[in-house]
Amino acid sequence: MPGKKAGSSEAAKSRSIHDAPGILVTGGAGFIGSHLVDALLSWFPTARVTVVDAFTYAANAENLVNARRSGRLRLVRASVEDRALLRDLITPEMLVLHLAAESHVPRSFADPDLFDRVNRHGTRVLLEAARSVGVPRVIHFSTDEVYGSRLSPADETSPFAPTSPYARSKADAEGEIRNARNAGLDVTVLRPSNVIGPRQHKEKLIPRFIELAQSGRAFQLEGDGDQRRTFLAISDLVQAVRLIVQKGAPNATYNVAGAETFSVREVARIIASAMEKTCRFEHVADRPANDRAYLLDGAKMAALGFQPRTGVQEVVREIMTGDRGAHAALPGRERRMSIAAA
Ligand SMILES: NC(=O)c1ccc[n+]([C@@H]2O[C@H](COP(=O)([O-])OP(=O)(O)OC[C@H]3O[C@@H](n4cnc5c(N)ncnc54)[C@H](O)[C@@H]3O)[C@@H](O)[C@H]2O)c1
Repeated sequence: MPGKKAGSSEAAKSRSIHDAPGILVTGGAGFIGSHLVDALLSWFPTARVTVVDAFTYAANAENLVNARRSGRLRLVRASVEDRALLRDLITPEMLVLHLAAESHVPRSFADPDLFDRVNRHGTRVLLEAARSVGVPRVIHFSTDEVYGSRLSPADETSPFAPTSPYARSKADAEGEIRNARNAGLDVTVLRPSNVIGPRQHKEKLIPRFIELAQSGRAFQLEGDGDQRRTFLAISDLVQAVRLIVQKGAPNATYNVAGAETFSVREVARIIASAMEKTCRFEHVADRPANDRAYLLDGAKMAALGFQPRTGVQEVVREIMTGDRGAHAALPGRERRMSIAAA
């Protein structure tokens, strides 16, 4: 009911986002979303977190096992395209983190309409619901891929040049964000590098290579294997989000650059060495638009105090030892963000 909460929306806007007693995370059963749910429950010890997730192939209920134990998680199995449901779920005090998306580049060539619907249109529906209810802030997860292939680092003002239907849909989602900002909604945008860590779906590079090495098979290099990627550990991304929640400026956009850049071939060597396996390569046909590199200028996040610390080797070890990255398993005092003092 759009009108039912309108009376309290002005009061909610004047509150700090750090007072948020309720948090909504879309796509919270996926890789990044579930880590953030754990972290948010830990930072805000009294907050309730609502996850809206359509539970596509990319979601995993196991990702939310620790969060469920908190007793403060509400899990809603639904699409972000469900306008009426979102309007019903969102309350005027809520901090909203929007991660729900189709996220795999090769799949986007097979079904660009799906990516357009979920990533662009789904974002529009979510933003409209958030605006109609009057939340203080939405944090949206975009990607470094909106800038396209880069040989020099892109800063937040660099032009978009997406080369895949996935990147196109994320760039178009940012168009929806411009509209929402013009209409008065405060939206923070993050454009992270290639995020890696436990819980990532096995279709993605590092889990796929670990699986190949575990089964004694050669690493498959698409094309020449010299495509370079910057890798951002999930633990570093979580820290970046914490800084943004604490200090992010209204309507700001932030690149979140990872600690290390390697070619796909170098990543295979790191994994082989960590697993004490011989590194054998098999060359397979390149995928469409397999960009040479995505490079980010991270100065704006650095000014907030962000420094990525975790390298690829460390993340590979974490994945191999089966550490599923439970940020909230034992929330120590140092992890907590005092709502009053933040
Ligand atoms: N992983 C990366 O390297 C990376 C880098 C930059 C940005 N991002 C962005 O971060 C976000 C999360 O990425 P991820 O790697 O965790 O993805 P993921 O594929 O692991 O998770 C996506 C989640 O969204 C859910 N979902 C899909 N369609 C939905 C819909 N219509 N309604 C509700 N939920 C839906 C899925 O069920 C899944 O749980 C995405 O927006 C992605 O574009 C990811």
